[in-house]
Amino acid sequence: MDTTLTQPTGGSTLTLPAGFRWGVATAAYQIEGAVAEDGRTKSIWDTYSHTPGRVDGDDNGDVACDHYHRMPQDVALIRSLGLDTYRFSISWPRVQPGGSGALNPKGIDFYQRLVDELLAAEIDPWITLYHWDLPQELEDAGGWPNRDTAYRFADYAALVFDKLGDRVDNWTTLNEPWCSAMLGYAYGRQAPGYEDFPAGIRAVHHLLLGHGLATQRMREAATALDHPIKLGITLNLGTAHPATDTPEDRDAARRADGLNSRLYLDPLFRGSYPADVIEDLTARGAELPVQEGDLEVISTPIDVLGVNYYTGWLISHLDEDGNTHDADGVIVTRDVPRGRPVTAMGWEIVPECFTELLVRLSQDYPGVPIVITENGAAFEDSPAADGSIHDVERTAYIAEHLNAVQEAVAQGADVRGYFCWSLMDNFEWSYGYEKRFGIVRVDYQTQERTLKDSAIWYRDQVQAWRDSLAG
Ligand code: FCB
Repeated sequence: MDTTLTQPTGGSTLTLPAGFRWGVATAAYQIEGAVAEDGRTKSIWDTYSHTPGRVDGDDNGDVACDHYHRMPQDVALIRSLGLDTYRFSISWPRVQPGGSGALNPKGIDFYQRLVDELLAAEIDPWITLYHWDLPQELEDAGGWPNRDTAYRFADYAALVFDKLGDRVDNWTTLNEPWCSAMLGYAYGRQAPGYEDFPAGIRAVHHLLLGHGLATQRMREAATALDHPIKLGITLNLGTAHPATDTPEDRDAARRADGLNSRLYLDPLFRGSYPADVIEDLTARGAELPVQEGDLEVISTPIDVLGVNYYTGWLISHLDEDGNTHDADGVIVTRDVPRGRPVTAMGWEIVPECFTELLVRLSQDYPGVPIVITENGAAFEDSPAADGSIHDVERTAYIAEHLNAVQEAVAQGADVRGYFCWSLMDNFEWSYGYEKRFGIVRVDYQTQERTLKDSAIWYRDQVQAWRDSLAG
């Protein structure tokens, strides 16, 4: 693989606008550990990861990065990188065990201390309310395919906002509802692990409804507090290009774009589900359980769209054996390799698709500022004898993608910030601990944190950008 370090254009200094935010991101279950402490109950990820065979190496988040006990050190680490924002998620079963009733004082206290620690370090907290860890009791009651879960989520959001809304400005309702719904309920690749396509589509609608209800509740509360906040949602998006210029592949690319991206963007920003996607879903026996007024709730205006980008998709209408339908009779929509270098996840590195995506979003869904809430890469890091980690590939990945953001901004996209995924190596869901996304290495035996070269490069880039604005 080509590991040449690509510097962003315009010499080594980024040319992003003043006020651009720089951060790192994490998620509760991936870093906290302490799963049975201080009243926390189980989430679907505890159940899933403890089910043999679900996660690589049968890893689980019981200890993870032990962040629950090392939080002040981790905040100091972020400060040492000179970053201005930290995106983290709140563990629903930690603050509201079982997913209903009053808040657990010890659970919410952890996040109050985290927020205070961040503010004291002059780091802006950026809260994600739901990064996949649904309380198990709510799953037992039907999970996201059950409409009631949307209302439970709004109640939880309002309770958390009541405790932290006076001093946290940035709020994201959901992280990547596509993953929760499709990987969780339709394709069985994440918790809770069902393979039921229609259930996945019901989950899509209820996640979006939960987002809208929570947005309304938090907006009302913020108005009452007279605290101007920034509210949003984070989607995982990419570009879907046809593998060949045939009508069949073009239609496959349309289907992929519809199911992965427009199914979320259209209701959020246009107040309607895309007609072609509804048709595709109907053909697969799936239905969005829309009730009167739902789309008005879902399209409640938001202040920011969080975009998580890792790769672009090249879509074929044929499977590996040349079939147009799978064994269940489902029409094929397959992401095919384009022969570019890949990360340790097997994801192709296509930064130009990132630019294209951001420009497209600003054209098709204008008026909402974008923040890159995740971008980064897993590679197999091998520490040198002195313990340093020369992760040239990760640095190149980040550099190329920052370059792509810069290019999108130059083409008119309204991008306001970039958060690297991730602050530190962590529990990478179904892949366990083997896939390392951190710019900081975690030694899971000792819990020692070591800055990788990419962290040092990122710190220096941000500093150089600040200096360029000042000078
Ligand atoms: C995203 C998730 C995040 C992490 C990265 C690699 O889909 O939001 O938690 O797993 O992928």
